[in-house]
Amino acid sequence: MKRFKRTTVTAALPYANGPLHIGHIAGAYLPADTYVRYLRLRGDDVIFICGSDEHGVAITLGAKKEGVSPRQFVDKYHGLMRQAFEDFGISFDIYSRTSSEVHYETAQEFFRKIYDQQIFLEETSDQYYDEQEQIFLADRYIIGTCPNCGHTNAYGDQCEKCGTSLSPRQLINPRSTVSGKTPVLKPTRHWYFPLDKYEAWLREWVIDGHKDDWKVNVYGQCKSWIDQGLQPRSITRDLDWGVPVPLADAKGKVLYVWFDAPIGYISATKELKPEGWEKYWKDPETRLIHFIGKDNIVFHCIIFPAILKAAGDYILPDNVPANEFLNLEGDKISTSRNHAVWLHEYLTDFSGRRDELRYVLTSISPETKDSDFTWKDYQQKVNSELVAILGNFVNRVMVLTWKYFDGKVPSEHELPGTTDRRKKILEQYNKAHDELNVSVKEMISALNGFRFREAQFQLMNLARIGNKFLADTEPWKLAKEDMEAVGCILNYALTIVGNIAIACDPFLPDAAASLRKQLNSSSFDVNWKQFWIKEQLINAVPQHHQLGQPELMYKNVEDEEIDRQVQKLRKTKMENEKPASAVKPLKPEITIDDFGKLDIRVGKVLAAEKMEKSNKLLKLTVDTGVDQRTVLSGIAQHYSPEEMVGKQVTLIANLAPRKMMGIESQGMILMAEDVDGKLRLIQPIEVVNPGSLVN
Ligand code: 2FM
Ligand code: ZN
Repeated sequence: MKRFKRTTVTAALPYANGPLHIGHIAGAYLPADTYVRYLRLRGDDVIFICGSDEHGVAITLGAKKEGVSPRQFVDKYHGLMRQAFEDFGISFDIYSRTSSEVHYETAQEFFRKIYDQQIFLEETSDQYYDEQEQIFLADRYIIGTCPNCGHTNAYGDQCEKCGTSLSPRQLINPRSTVSGKTPVLKPTRHWYFPLDKYEAWLREWVIDGHKDDWKVNVYGQCKSWIDQGLQPRSITRDLDWGVPVPLADAKGKVLYVWFDAPIGYISATKELKPEGWEKYWKDPETRLIHFIGKDNIVFHCIIFPAILKAAGDYILPDNVPANEFLNLEGDKISTSRNHAVWLHEYLTDFSGRRDELRYVLTSISPETKDSDFTWKDYQQKVNSELVAILGNFVNRVMVLTWKYFDGKVPSEHELPGTTDRRKKILEQYNKAHDELNVSVKEMISALNGFRFREAQFQLMNLARIGNKFLADTEPWKLAKEDMEAVGCILNYALTIVGNIAIACDPFLPDAAASLRKQLNSSSFDVNWKQFWIKEQLINAVPQHHQLGQPELMYKNVEDEEIDRQVQKLRKTKMENEKPASAVKPLKPEITIDDFGKLDIRVGKVLAAEKMEKSNKLLKLTVDTGVDQRTVLSGIAQHYSPEEMVGKQVTLIANLAPRKMMGIESQGMILMAEDVDGKLRLIQPIEVVNPGSLVN
């Protein structure tokens, strides 16, 4: 295996368009953090890079929805995400953002470097334009009917119902999501990166070069993409939010978000190390690792490497350990449906118990296929693994050492096998020692291979083996007759605790901190790094050393805590289902003649009063332009009589009169019934003369 001098680790830049959820964490950030912590413990030169992705349609659409500017929008979510990452203990060396000045410069420099070599193609083509808003519409801004399945709200780049990839011009009845209007085709000029010209090189580099060291899911996706044939990709957009194309005649054009975002890794490194950044991106002895989710594979394994290659003298990713997706309670995590466990809410609800979530997410990490998070499983894993295996082992060893040796590490010496019992203990010690060393080796090998689920399982094995050693040797039964044997057993048990303290650091940093405190490790001088270098158990805690006080590392997750979370998800599910079912289906078709029979006109309410013995009806006197008449309307629960007086209303004036509660109603007031059942008056936006017909 090639030796590297240093490692650059990146984690996908999340869009600054919403808070982080456990799917994000399990997909990229937790595995990346575990890996980086491991490299740091080994003493490697490593940097861990991330930041917010602040451009593209995800941002402009989101800002529009919230009625704020893109700048205000990204400021809000960048702040939220940065804080949540920090509170959760993801240990980036820098968390930057793509709206920073250094990023604009870097991305523009990249463009220029490739442009100057005349690599880009420049082409004018017809694209959809919203005449009302005067903007070209990005694919996601256009919806229409899917030519494949007939779904009426398919996006310009994909139909989410049948999954077909689309281009905007394939949509039937396209409409702009910005104005709702039908867009027109208008010519616009853009720059294209000729990915097809890099096909031969990509075949050699990915298909031949990374068959054996990239994950099967990653390699497979790349291969199928390349095999389908590569096309030039446009790398600019007509938008007023983004990195401007650095050319004199390119007003109103910005770089496509997927061109600028990965360059964000480089800009963030520049920001972190203004002087020494280049060696992390240009030295062939640096290893570049991208942690991402599976939806980002093509960009990181094909497009960005080709761009790096075109820009020249950059290193290429050595590995891209992309994860599949995490589901939640058997259903896709969805921001728009609010079906998610939000990181910041978790940290509040569970009073900052970060290790628990880290542990559970790593144990179900979607490394080879999609996996499912359930709250029941969370409870079970914390209670029967973290509490019952890890916490329990450490606590037993600590409490026994305080009980028999006043918290001082007993002497370390060979136990002569003079009695049968001692011989047995020796055997158990040898067995445990061999097993522990196997687990340590396998844990480190799994970490090197980005198999974090397995690595964490091997970590827990150290505690499992420790528990078994205590159960087999039963030091509490020996205390009366053979204190020397008790000392030997506890000395070794403390060695196991010490090695767990070292080994759990990448996975469970809070446990590691607690163990260092309990072992009082700051007052002895043992080189714990040796554990990672030698890949075997080390003499982690010196004899006669005074330990700290035992402390409870984990406690059981109670049923109530889990029920509360399950209820929360159920509630959002119910809320989501309500509006969809409340929208009434279309009525049967009518002819224009049918419609023409209706006399719909605007009237003005002159007087209004509640009807006696009815909590639904108001009795209105309405000026219809042709007469003044009485109309009964079932709106008493939505408008008071005082509110109605003076209001313009729309009514059907030629409906046959109908008697209700002894009074004749001569018409019907038109109302919109909202999905929640609320009634709202239909009024002209501007005041019109009473009697105006509605056609
Ligand atoms: O999918 C996403 O959330 C993108 N914002 C990831 C970008 S990764 C990188 F290229 F910046
Ligand atoms: Zn479809």
